[in-house]
Amino acid sequence: MNLTPCSIHRWPLLAGVAVLALSCWPALAADTSPAQQLSRFSAEAGAPGQAERGRAFFAARHGGEWSCSSCHGAPPLQPGKHASTGKAIDPLAPAANPRAFTDTAKVDKWFRRNCKDVLSRECSAAEKADVLAYLTSVKP
Ligand code: HEC
Repeated sequence: MNLTPCSIHRWPLLAGVAVLALSCWPALAADTSPAQQLSRFSAEAGAPGQAERGRAFFAARHGGEWSCSSCHGAPPLQPGKHASTGKAIDPLAPAANPRAFTDTAKVDKWFRRNCKDVLSRECSAAEKADVLAYLTSVKP
């Protein structure tokens, strides 16, 4: 048996469940919310995100082959499809996906990666604030 720090706690079962929940917390992390990410980027930008600007940014190509909506759809309420691999992507709008924007590290990782794919540079805090304002305003 392969004892990871998580699996060690599975026994004895009763206490184990509580300990498992605590010790594996970072792995299940929901350390933030879409609203918190919106205020974070707005604060960094020094101005509140604007949904309409975010909508236009999301749908536009920025000199390259792809827009954000190439993979995420517009509006991003349905599961997206990776523009090159065809792999399914969970909906990006929090109204359609309760897990969207609940993990700071994931938010940062994908903003960095996707902005480089679409804009050939990282997005500014103002652009991220606009995207968040747009995404949190999208309703089914
Ligand atoms: C080439 C395909 C592709 C393009 C283009 C793309 N994305 Fe993504 N994006 C992904 C994939 C794949 C994920 C990871 C989905 C998952 O694991 O749930 C993702 C995830 C994200 C996340 C993380 C969501 C979360 O739950 O925290 C953000 C933010 C994001 N994308 C923003 C953007 C923005 C902004 C653009 C345009 C600048 C963009 N993406 C363009 C493929 C793409």
